[in-house]
Amino acid sequence: MITCIEKRNDGICLYEMKNDDLHVLVSSYGVTILSIEAKDRDGKFENVVLGHPAIDDYMKKDGYYFGAVVGRVCNRLAKGEFTLDGVEYHVPINNGPNSLHGGIDGFSYKNFDSKIEGDSLVFTYTSKDMEEGYPGNLKLTVTLELKGNSLEITYDAITDKKTLCNLTHHTYFNLNGQECDVKDHLMHINASRHGLVDKDGLCTGHFREVYGTPLDFTKEAPVSQGLNLNDEQTENAYGIDHHFVLDDEDDQFTLYDPKTGRLLTVNTTFPGMQIYSGNYIGKCEGINGKSYDQHWGVAVEPQYLPDSIHNQEQPDAILRPGEQLHETITYTFDIR
Ligand code: BGC
Repeated sequence: MITCIEKRNDGICLYEMKNDDLHVLVSSYGVTILSIEAKDRDGKFENVVLGHPAIDDYMKKDGYYFGAVVGRVCNRLAKGEFTLDGVEYHVPINNGPNSLHGGIDGFSYKNFDSKIEGDSLVFTYTSKDMEEGYPGNLKLTVTLELKGNSLEITYDAITDKKTLCNLTHHTYFNLNGQECDVKDHLMHINASRHGLVDKDGLCTGHFREVYGTPLDFTKEAPVSQGLNLNDEQTENAYGIDHHFVLDDEDDQFTLYDPKTGRLLTVNTTFPGMQIYSGNYIGKCEGINGKSYDQHWGVAVEPQYLPDSIHNQEQPDAILRPGEQLHETITYTFDIR
């Protein structure tokens, strides 16, 4: 069942999506997933995603992007510059020498129009031509639906001018009731290669095989394995903050908390995922009176290759008039 539980004077709407397996709170501001309550092995519901104490905290732009949709271009765009059909574009630089997560005022900070349509919650936003420096009026629809023990998110976008578009959700998972960090969570990523990053965290367009490195999660391993900085790549990123190229369409990502028995599976139509071990999270107040610190959650961000415009001969992140971007991300919660 989906209910609008609050409509604020500033137009922000809060929704609750509820069934026997999941209780989800979503805000129209940044299509932000505020909380997902899932059962542990004793049937106890607890929130498993990181969030701020109040909606207004999401507007402070602290750079955490807890639970928010990210666009028009997620992750880093080198030097905030790109060229399409011979025209040079410049977008805001907000992360070292690069542009991160759509610029200073990206989609995470926009209030979307919203409506309940049957079993779905539908959010829409039109990003105007040259908003944050990107060409083309881009119409974006983000649809959320509960299907049993899964939350499915669908992204649809069209444009009236050739543009860049790479979308994701920036949901951080902590399956242990947020009492401690996630270093002991066991992670599996069905990826034999990952993208290399430079010291600014920018994806260079080069790849390496994960085998024999701290980023080998082809077999389930504790998150802490990726926090071993005795490797140029984990050292550059202060832990895990890399794009993993998915090998298969099934069994793409799992995260398991041995303490509570909660098992998260993430599947997506995107070709890869940025996995980020919360390296830059500092001491802060979270939702439901919890306090967070470094590595308090793992952000699982399915997307096209970061900086795709500079790193691919035929960039996935280019959207042309007449084309429709259509991708999904599904979070499934089980007990093991
Ligand atoms: C990036 C990190 C960044 C984090 C929060 C992730 O997607 O890869 O480098 O710190 O988002 O902004």
